[in-house]
Amino acid sequence: MKFFIDTANLNHIKEAHELGILDGVTTNPSLMAKENIKGKEHINQHYKTICELVQGDVSAEVLNTTYKEMIDEGLELAAIHPQIVVKIPMIKDGLKVIKYLNNKNIKTNCTLVFSAGQAILAAKAGASYISPFIGRIDDSNWDGIQLISQIRHIFDIQNYETEILAASIRNPLHIIKSAEAGAHICTSPLDSILALLKHPLTDIGLAKFIEDSKKL
Ligand code: E4P
Repeated sequence: MKFFIDTANLNHIKEAHELGILDGVTTNPSLMAKENIKGKEHINQHYKTICELVQGDVSAEVLNTTYKEMIDEGLELAAIHPQIVVKIPMIKDGLKVIKYLNNKNIKTNCTLVFSAGQAILAAKAGASYISPFIGRIDDSNWDGIQLISQIRHIFDIQNYETEILAASIRNPLHIIKSAEAGAHICTSPLDSILALLKHPLTDIGLAKFIEDSKKL
């Protein structure tokens, strides 16, 4: 499973990149707003900076929701850098835009996916990635990880090439369960990635080794 970081924060991206396990970045309008990125020029420059920091795909989300506007915006975003993947919402016009951009060999990430039916449509349209929102599904008393398993099963028997990008990750267990359920990629905030490192027995064991190393 590939590891993406789900943030527009440059320090978090740098820290994850330095760990040596980072395969890409996802952003969304809420994450960009959190970093106080405002105006088209600033937004586009921020995406360029992120692309220069990491080697993998960087998802940049369209801000419009009509066919023509999303096409124009998608083409503009894709022109920023070859690593840009255009993130498109799972709506009727979004589906058409995914098909259009796919025909132009521009990678897309279909976002706001909450059901297997939506995942099938996005795959049929030629999305490079679909993003099921695990945490938000769990918040609504459904099972986000179960959805990942269901979509993976469907994609495997139908030979869909679209990759499953587990999103809306809230904790390290979501990452582990996403891997177990067959997600191709997991996009997580830095704290959930770093939490995977932690185990009290590692800390206790290391303290003992350090103490005993002084006897050598
Ligand atoms: C990423 O692609 C999604 O936009 C993001 O993971 C959503 O996460 P949230 O539900 O924590 O806002």
